[in-house]
Amino acid sequence: MSRLAGRRVLLIISGGIAAYKALELIRLLRAAECAVQCVLTRGGAEFVTALSLQALSENRVHGDLFSLTEESEMGHIQLSRAADLLVVAPASADILARMAAGLADDLAATLLLATDKRVLVAPAMNVRMWLHPATQANMASLAARGVTVVGPGVGAMACHEHGPGRLAEPAEIVAAIERLLAPGDALAGRHVIVTSGPTQEPIDPVRYLANRSSGRQGHAIAAALAELGARVSLISGPVTLADPPGVGVCHVVTAAEMLAACQAALPADAAVCCAAVADWRVAEVASQKLKKSADAAPARLTLLPNPDILASLAAPGPLRPKLVVGFAAETEHILAHAQAKRARKGCDWIVANDASAPAGIMGGAENEVHLLTAEGVESWPRLPKTEVARRLALRIAGAMGG
Ligand code: CTP
Repeated sequence: MSRLAGRRVLLIISGGIAAYKALELIRLLRAAECAVQCVLTRGGAEFVTALSLQALSENRVHGDLFSLTEESEMGHIQLSRAADLLVVAPASADILARMAAGLADDLAATLLLATDKRVLVAPAMNVRMWLHPATQANMASLAARGVTVVGPGVGAMACHEHGPGRLAEPAEIVAAIERLLAPGDALAGRHVIVTSGPTQEPIDPVRYLANRSSGRQGHAIAAALAELGARVSLISGPVTLADPPGVGVCHVVTAAEMLAACQAALPADAAVCCAAVADWRVAEVASQKLKKSADAAPARLTLLPNPDILASLAAPGPLRPKLVVGFAAETEHILAHAQAKRARKGCDWIVANDASAPAGIMGGAENEVHLLTAEGVESWPRLPKTEVARRLALRIAGAMGG
Protein backbone atom coordinates (compact mmCIF):
# COMPACT_ATOMS: atom_id res chain seq x y z
CA MET A 1 0.00 0.00 0.00
CA SER A 2 1.23 3.51 -0.81
CA ARG A 3 2.55 5.62 2.08
CA LEU A 4 0.06 8.29 1.07
CA ALA A 5 -2.99 6.03 0.96
CA GLY A 6 -5.90 7.64 2.77
CA ARG A 7 -4.11 10.97 3.30
CA ARG A 8 -5.82 14.20 2.19
CA VAL A 9 -4.09 16.99 0.32
CA LEU A 10 -5.64 20.38 -0.36
CA LEU A 11 -3.94 21.53 -3.57
CA ILE A 12 -3.93 25.24 -4.39
CA ILE A 13 -3.11 26.00 -8.03
CA SER A 14 -2.07 29.60 -8.56
CA GLY A 15 -1.37 31.45 -11.79
CA GLY A 16 1.59 30.55 -13.98
CA ILE A 17 2.41 28.56 -17.08
CA ALA A 18 3.60 25.72 -14.82
CA ALA A 19 0.00 25.19 -13.67
CA TYR A 20 -0.29 22.49 -16.33
CA LYS A 21 2.11 20.35 -14.24
CA ALA A 22 -0.48 20.37 -11.43
CA LEU A 23 -2.47 17.93 -13.57
CA GLU A 24 0.37 15.40 -13.48
CA LEU A 25 0.81 16.04 -9.74
CA ILE A 26 -2.85 15.22 -9.13
CA ARG A 27 -2.54 12.07 -11.27
CA LEU A 28 0.46 10.87 -9.22
CA LEU A 29 -1.27 11.61 -5.91
CA ARG A 30 -4.43 9.81 -6.97
CA ALA A 31 -2.35 6.83 -8.15
CA ALA A 32 -0.90 6.78 -4.61
CA GLU A 33 -4.48 6.67 -3.24
CA CYS A 34 -4.13 10.15 -1.76
CA ALA A 35 -7.33 12.22 -1.78
CA VAL A 36 -6.92 15.58 -3.53
CA GLN A 37 -9.16 18.61 -3.13
CA CYS A 38 -8.31 21.44 -5.54
CA VAL A 39 -8.59 25.19 -5.09
CA LEU A 40 -7.99 27.16 -8.27
CA THR A 41 -7.07 30.84 -7.99
CA ARG A 42 -8.29 33.35 -10.57
CA GLY A 43 -4.77 33.43 -12.05
CA GLY A 44 -4.58 29.65 -12.09
CA ALA A 45 -7.86 29.47 -14.01
CA GLU A 46 -6.16 31.35 -16.87
CA PHE A 47 -3.85 28.36 -17.36
CA VAL A 48 -5.81 25.21 -16.46
CA THR A 49 -9.52 24.54 -16.33
CA ALA A 50 -11.54 23.53 -13.29
CA LEU A 51 -12.94 20.73 -15.46
CA SER A 52 -9.52 19.08 -15.91
CA LEU A 53 -8.75 19.37 -12.19
CA GLN A 54 -12.16 17.99 -11.30
CA ALA A 55 -11.81 15.03 -13.68
CA LEU A 56 -8.38 14.08 -12.33
CA SER A 57 -9.01 14.75 -8.63
CA GLU A 58 -12.51 13.21 -8.74
CA ASN A 59 -13.57 16.06 -6.48
CA ARG A 60 -15.39 19.32 -6.92
CA VAL A 61 -13.01 22.26 -7.49
CA HIS A 62 -13.29 25.36 -5.32
CA GLY A 63 -12.41 28.84 -6.45
CA ASP A 64 -14.82 31.35 -5.08
CA LEU A 65 -14.51 32.81 -1.58
CA PHE A 66 -18.06 34.11 -1.52
CA SER A 67 -19.96 31.19 -2.98
CA LEU A 68 -23.28 31.02 -1.21
CA THR A 69 -23.88 27.36 -1.96
CA GLU A 70 -20.42 26.31 -0.84
CA GLU A 71 -20.58 28.40 2.32
CA SER A 72 -23.82 26.72 3.31
CA GLU A 73 -22.50 23.25 2.48
CA MET A 74 -19.01 23.63 3.93
CA GLY A 75 -17.46 26.74 5.47
CA HIS A 76 -14.22 27.65 3.73
CA ILE A 77 -12.30 27.22 6.97
CA GLN A 78 -13.51 23.63 7.05
CA LEU A 79 -11.82 23.02 3.70
CA SER A 80 -8.37 23.52 5.18
CA ARG A 81 -9.23 21.73 8.42
CA ALA A 82 -10.33 18.63 6.54
CA ALA A 83 -6.92 18.27 4.88
CA ASP A 84 -3.75 16.70 6.28
CA LEU A 85 -1.55 19.06 4.27
CA LEU A 86 -1.94 22.20 2.15
CA VAL A 87 0.16 22.26 -1.03
CA VAL A 88 0.55 25.34 -3.22
CA ALA A 89 1.78 24.19 -6.66
CA PRO A 90 2.60 26.16 -8.60
CA ALA A 91 3.11 28.96 -6.07
CA SER A 92 3.39 32.26 -7.93
CA ALA A 93 5.35 35.26 -6.63
CA ASP A 94 1.97 36.86 -5.99
CA ILE A 95 0.50 34.15 -3.77
CA LEU A 96 3.79 33.83 -1.84
CA ALA A 97 3.69 37.60 -1.21
CA ARG A 98 0.06 37.40 -0.10
CA MET A 99 0.90 34.51 2.25
CA ALA A 100 3.84 36.42 3.71
CA ALA A 101 1.66 39.48 4.25
CA GLY A 102 -1.15 37.43 5.79
CA LEU A 103 -3.75 38.60 3.26
CA ALA A 104 -7.10 36.86 2.89
CA ASP A 105 -8.29 38.38 -0.36
CA ASP A 106 -9.38 35.19 -2.12
CA LEU A 107 -10.29 31.64 -1.14
CA ALA A 108 -6.73 30.29 -1.48
CA ALA A 109 -5.18 33.04 0.68
CA THR A 110 -7.98 32.72 3.23
CA LEU A 111 -7.45 28.98 3.55
CA LEU A 112 -3.70 29.46 3.93
CA LEU A 113 -4.29 32.01 6.70
CA ALA A 114 -6.95 29.97 8.48
CA THR A 115 -5.23 26.60 8.41
CA ASP A 116 -3.78 24.75 11.37
CA LYS A 117 -2.06 22.24 9.06
CA ARG A 118 1.41 22.08 7.54
CA VAL A 119 1.94 23.98 4.29
CA LEU A 120 4.19 23.00 1.37
CA VAL A 121 4.89 25.49 -1.42
CA ALA A 122 6.38 24.74 -4.83
CA PRO A 123 7.40 28.14 -6.25
CA ALA A 124 7.39 28.73 -10.01
CA MET A 125 8.12 32.06 -11.62
CA ASN A 126 10.45 34.00 -13.83
CA VAL A 127 14.06 33.91 -12.61
CA ARG A 128 14.18 37.69 -11.94
CA MET A 129 10.98 37.51 -9.93
CA TRP A 130 12.40 34.62 -7.90
CA LEU A 131 15.68 36.40 -7.25
CA HIS A 132 14.02 39.72 -6.42
CA PRO A 133 14.75 40.75 -2.80
CA ALA A 134 11.00 41.09 -2.17
CA THR A 135 10.37 37.42 -3.11
CA GLN A 136 13.44 36.28 -1.20
CA ALA A 137 12.31 38.22 1.90
CA ASN A 138 8.84 36.67 1.56
CA MET A 139 10.38 33.18 1.32
CA ALA A 140 12.50 33.84 4.42
CA SER A 141 9.50 34.88 6.47
CA LEU A 142 7.44 31.91 5.26
CA ALA A 143 10.28 29.52 6.14
CA ALA A 144 10.57 31.13 9.58
CA ARG A 145 6.87 30.34 10.09
CA GLY A 146 7.44 26.69 9.29
CA VAL A 147 6.29 26.60 5.65
CA THR A 148 8.17 23.89 3.72
CA VAL A 149 9.52 24.65 0.25
CA VAL A 150 10.20 22.28 -2.64
CA GLY A 151 12.18 23.69 -5.57
CA PRO A 152 12.29 25.78 -7.59
CA GLY A 153 14.51 23.97 -10.08
CA VAL A 154 17.10 25.54 -12.34
CA GLY A 155 16.75 25.37 -16.11
CA ALA A 156 15.29 26.85 -19.24
CA MET A 157 12.00 28.63 -18.66
CA ALA A 158 8.95 29.37 -20.76
CA CYS A 159 9.99 33.04 -20.85
CA HIS A 160 13.28 32.05 -22.62
CA GLU A 161 15.40 32.87 -19.59
CA HIS A 162 17.58 30.43 -17.69
CA GLY A 163 18.03 30.06 -13.93
CA PRO A 164 16.11 29.18 -10.76
CA GLY A 165 12.33 29.49 -11.01
CA ARG A 166 11.12 26.25 -12.64
CA LEU A 167 8.41 24.38 -10.77
CA ALA A 168 9.82 21.25 -9.09
CA GLU A 169 8.94 18.11 -11.06
CA PRO A 170 5.63 16.53 -9.94
CA ALA A 171 7.49 13.42 -8.67
CA GLU A 172 9.70 15.66 -6.50
CA ILE A 173 6.62 17.37 -5.09
CA VAL A 174 5.08 13.98 -4.29
CA ALA A 175 8.31 12.96 -2.52
CA ALA A 176 8.17 16.19 -0.45
CA ILE A 177 4.53 15.46 0.41
CA GLU A 178 5.53 11.95 1.50
CA ARG A 179 8.29 13.32 3.73
CA LEU A 180 5.75 15.59 5.44
CA LEU A 181 2.85 13.16 5.70
CA ALA A 182 4.62 9.87 6.25
CA PRO A 183 7.93 10.71 7.93
CA GLY A 184 8.48 7.15 9.04
CA ASP A 185 8.00 5.24 12.22
CA ALA A 186 11.38 5.58 13.89
CA LEU A 187 9.74 5.82 17.33
CA ALA A 188 7.02 3.21 16.83
CA GLY A 189 6.49 1.22 20.02
CA ARG A 190 8.25 3.87 22.16
CA HIS A 191 6.57 5.84 24.92
CA VAL A 192 7.73 9.40 25.56
CA ILE A 193 6.62 11.78 28.32
CA VAL A 194 6.70 15.49 27.46
CA THR A 195 6.02 18.33 29.91
CA SER A 196 4.95 21.66 28.46
CA GLY A 197 3.66 25.10 29.37
CA PRO A 198 3.84 26.96 32.67
CA THR A 199 2.50 25.82 36.00
CA GLN A 200 0.24 28.04 38.05
CA GLU A 201 0.62 28.10 41.80
CA PRO A 202 -2.47 29.47 43.56
CA ILE A 203 -2.27 32.31 46.09
CA ASP A 204 -6.00 32.53 46.74
CA PRO A 205 -9.09 31.59 44.69
CA VAL A 206 -8.42 34.32 42.10
CA ARG A 207 -4.63 34.88 42.06
CA TYR A 208 -1.66 32.72 41.17
CA LEU A 209 2.10 32.74 40.53
CA ALA A 210 3.11 31.79 36.98
CA ASN A 211 5.45 32.68 34.12
CA ARG A 212 5.34 33.64 30.44
CA SER A 213 5.72 30.14 28.93
CA SER A 214 3.30 29.60 26.02
CA GLY A 215 3.85 25.85 25.70
CA ARG A 216 4.59 26.22 21.97
CA GLN A 217 7.96 24.47 22.08
CA GLY A 218 6.78 21.60 24.29
CA HIS A 219 3.60 21.04 22.28
CA ALA A 220 5.60 21.08 19.03
CA ILE A 221 7.97 18.46 20.46
CA ALA A 222 5.03 16.26 21.48
CA ALA A 223 3.58 16.56 17.95
CA ALA A 224 6.95 15.83 16.31
CA LEU A 225 7.49 12.72 18.46
CA ALA A 226 4.00 11.49 17.62
CA GLU A 227 4.69 12.02 13.91
CA LEU A 228 7.61 9.61 14.28
CA GLY A 229 5.23 7.02 15.68
CA ALA A 230 5.86 7.43 19.41
CA ARG A 231 3.10 7.10 21.97
CA VAL A 232 3.30 10.49 23.60
CA SER A 233 2.01 11.49 27.04
CA LEU A 234 1.94 15.27 27.07
CA ILE A 235 1.58 16.70 30.56
CA SER A 236 0.62 20.31 30.02
CA GLY A 237 0.17 23.27 32.32
CA PRO A 238 -2.46 25.89 31.44
CA VAL A 239 -1.92 27.04 27.81
CA THR A 240 -4.14 28.46 25.09
CA LEU A 241 -2.90 25.95 22.49
CA ALA A 242 -5.00 23.15 21.05
CA ASP A 243 -4.03 19.59 22.01
CA PRO A 244 -1.64 18.29 19.32
CA PRO A 245 -3.19 15.55 17.13
CA GLY A 246 -2.33 11.97 17.98
CA VAL A 247 -1.01 12.82 21.44
CA GLY A 248 -2.42 11.79 24.83
CA VAL A 249 -2.77 15.00 26.85
CA CYS A 250 -3.09 15.36 30.61
CA HIS A 251 -3.98 18.90 31.67
CA VAL A 252 -2.60 20.01 35.03
CA VAL A 253 -2.28 23.31 36.86
CA THR A 254 0.34 23.09 39.60
CA ALA A 255 3.86 21.66 39.76
CA ALA A 256 2.71 19.04 42.26
CA GLU A 257 0.01 17.89 39.82
CA MET A 258 2.53 17.86 36.96
CA LEU A 259 4.92 15.66 38.95
CA ALA A 260 2.12 13.26 39.93
CA ALA A 261 0.95 13.01 36.29
CA CYS A 262 4.51 12.30 35.10
CA GLN A 263 4.95 9.59 37.70
CA ALA A 264 1.61 8.07 36.74
CA ALA A 265 2.68 8.04 33.07
CA LEU A 266 5.82 5.95 33.78
CA PRO A 267 7.29 3.68 32.54
CA ALA A 268 8.58 5.55 29.50
CA ASP A 269 11.48 5.17 27.09
CA ALA A 270 12.25 8.88 27.15
CA ALA A 271 11.14 12.06 28.89
CA VAL A 272 11.44 15.61 27.61
CA CYS A 273 10.89 18.26 30.28
CA CYS A 274 10.03 21.43 28.45
CA ALA A 275 7.64 22.92 31.02
CA ALA A 276 8.53 26.16 32.76
CA VAL A 277 7.68 24.83 36.19
CA ALA A 278 7.15 27.52 38.84
CA ASP A 279 10.07 27.25 41.25
CA TRP A 280 7.97 28.11 44.26
CA ARG A 281 4.49 27.67 45.58
CA VAL A 282 2.68 29.58 48.28
CA ALA A 283 2.92 27.84 51.65
CA GLU A 284 -0.65 28.53 52.66
CA VAL A 285 -3.19 29.07 49.90
CA ALA A 286 -5.93 31.37 51.20
CA SER A 287 -9.39 29.84 50.96
CA GLN A 288 -10.95 33.30 50.43
CA LYS A 289 -9.78 36.17 48.27
CA LEU A 290 -7.07 38.18 50.08
CA LYS A 291 -8.45 41.66 50.75
CA LYS A 292 -6.39 44.81 50.90
CA SER A 293 -7.08 47.45 53.48
CA ALA A 294 -5.86 51.02 53.65
CA ASP A 295 -4.29 50.76 57.07
CA ALA A 296 -2.85 47.21 57.00
CA ALA A 297 0.47 46.26 55.36
CA PRO A 298 0.24 44.27 52.09
CA ALA A 299 -0.11 40.50 52.53
CA ARG A 300 3.23 38.68 52.87
CA LEU A 301 3.53 35.39 51.02
CA THR A 302 5.65 32.59 52.36
CA LEU A 303 7.02 30.51 49.47
CA LEU A 304 8.09 26.88 49.51
CA PRO A 305 10.25 25.26 46.80
CA ASN A 306 8.41 23.09 44.28
CA PRO A 307 9.55 19.56 43.50
CA ASP A 308 11.98 19.37 40.58
CA ILE A 309 10.19 17.18 38.03
CA LEU A 310 13.17 16.82 35.69
CA ALA A 311 15.51 15.82 38.52
CA SER A 312 13.00 13.34 39.87
CA LEU A 313 12.50 11.68 36.44
CA ALA A 314 16.28 11.61 35.91
CA ALA A 315 17.06 10.10 39.33
CA PRO A 316 18.54 6.59 39.09
CA GLY A 317 16.03 3.79 39.58
CA PRO A 318 14.22 1.00 37.80
CA LEU A 319 11.69 3.38 36.22
CA ARG A 320 14.21 5.95 34.96
CA PRO A 321 13.58 6.52 31.22
CA LYS A 322 16.58 5.58 29.09
CA LEU A 323 16.86 9.18 27.83
CA VAL A 324 15.93 12.21 29.93
CA VAL A 325 16.07 15.60 28.24
CA GLY A 326 15.79 18.91 30.08
CA PHE A 327 15.58 22.50 28.93
CA ALA A 328 17.51 25.42 30.32
CA ALA A 329 16.22 28.95 29.95
CA GLU A 330 19.17 31.18 30.77
CA THR A 331 19.75 34.90 30.50
CA GLU A 332 23.57 34.89 30.78
CA HIS A 333 26.51 32.44 30.57
CA ILE A 334 24.12 30.15 28.73
CA LEU A 335 26.43 27.21 28.06
CA ALA A 336 28.14 27.25 31.46
CA HIS A 337 24.85 27.44 33.33
CA ALA A 338 23.26 24.79 31.11
CA GLN A 339 26.23 22.46 31.58
CA ALA A 340 25.97 22.87 35.37
CA LYS A 341 22.21 22.28 35.18
CA ARG A 342 22.74 19.05 33.23
CA ALA A 343 25.05 17.73 35.93
CA ARG A 344 22.90 18.98 38.81
CA LYS A 345 19.64 17.50 37.50
CA GLY A 346 21.19 14.23 36.31
CA CYS A 347 19.59 14.41 32.86
CA ASP A 348 21.24 13.09 29.69
CA TRP A 349 20.71 16.11 27.42
CA ILE A 350 19.96 19.76 27.96
CA VAL A 351 18.45 22.01 25.32
CA ALA A 352 19.61 25.49 26.27
CA ASN A 353 18.28 28.82 25.07
CA ASP A 354 18.62 32.49 25.79
CA ALA A 355 15.49 33.59 27.63
CA SER A 356 16.53 37.25 27.31
CA ALA A 357 16.73 37.14 23.47
CA PRO A 358 15.40 40.42 22.04
CA ALA A 359 12.90 38.78 19.68
CA GLY A 360 11.20 37.14 22.65
CA ILE A 361 11.88 33.42 22.37
CA MET A 362 9.58 32.81 25.34
CA GLY A 363 6.13 32.91 23.81
CA GLY A 364 7.46 33.51 20.27
CA ALA A 365 7.38 31.25 17.21
CA GLU A 366 11.14 30.73 16.91
CA ASN A 367 13.90 29.36 19.05
CA GLU A 368 17.69 29.34 18.93
CA VAL A 369 19.03 26.47 20.98
CA HIS A 370 22.19 24.61 21.92
CA LEU A 371 21.99 20.86 22.46
CA LEU A 372 24.29 19.74 25.27
CA THR A 373 25.02 16.01 25.46
CA ALA A 374 27.78 13.88 26.98
CA GLU A 375 29.58 14.27 23.63
CA GLY A 376 29.60 18.07 23.62
CA VAL A 377 27.63 21.08 22.44
CA GLU A 378 25.78 21.56 19.14
CA SER A 379 24.51 25.05 18.35
CA TRP A 380 21.50 25.10 16.04
CA PRO A 381 20.54 28.15 13.97
CA ARG A 382 17.46 30.19 14.80
CA LEU A 383 14.55 28.04 13.61
CA PRO A 384 10.76 27.85 13.89
CA LYS A 385 9.89 25.99 17.10
CA THR A 386 8.27 23.29 14.94
CA GLU A 387 11.60 22.73 13.20
CA VAL A 388 13.53 22.64 16.50
CA ALA A 389 10.97 20.05 17.59
CA ARG A 390 11.43 17.95 14.45
CA ARG A 391 15.20 17.97 14.77
CA LEU A 392 15.04 17.06 18.44
CA ALA A 393 12.55 14.26 17.76
CA LEU A 394 14.87 12.84 15.10
CA ARG A 395 17.80 13.02 17.53
CA ILE A 396 15.74 11.23 20.18
CA ALA A 397 14.81 8.56 17.62
CA GLY A 398 18.53 8.18 16.85
CA ALA A 399 19.39 7.80 20.53
CA MET A 400 16.64 5.19 20.93
CA GLY A 401 18.19 3.23 18.11
CA GLY A 402 15.34 4.11 15.73
N1 CTP B 1 12.19 21.82 35.86
C1 CTP B 1 11.35 20.88 36.43
N2 CTP B 1 10.82 21.12 37.65
C2 CTP B 1 11.08 22.26 38.33
C3 CTP B 1 11.93 23.24 37.73
C4 CTP B 1 12.46 22.98 36.49
O1 CTP B 1 11.11 19.83 35.83
N3 CTP B 1 10.54 22.47 39.49
C5 CTP B 1 12.81 21.51 34.56
C6 CTP B 1 12.33 22.33 33.40
O2 CTP B 1 11.25 21.68 32.75
C7 CTP B 1 13.57 22.35 32.51
C8 CTP B 1 14.71 22.33 33.51
O3 CTP B 1 14.17 21.80 34.70
O4 CTP B 1 13.68 21.18 31.74
C9 CTP B 1 15.37 23.63 33.79
O5 CTP B 1 14.43 24.62 34.10
P1 CTP B 1 14.93 26.10 34.38
O6 CTP B 1 13.74 26.94 34.71
O7 CTP B 1 15.85 26.56 33.29
O8 CTP B 1 15.85 25.90 35.61
P2 CTP B 1 15.57 25.88 37.11
O9 CTP B 1 15.69 24.49 37.61
O10 CTP B 1 14.31 26.59 37.46
O11 CTP B 1 16.87 26.66 37.62
P3 CTP B 1 17.15 28.25 37.64
O12 CTP B 1 15.81 28.92 37.80
O13 CTP B 1 18.07 28.41 38.79
O14 CTP B 1 17.82 28.57 36.33
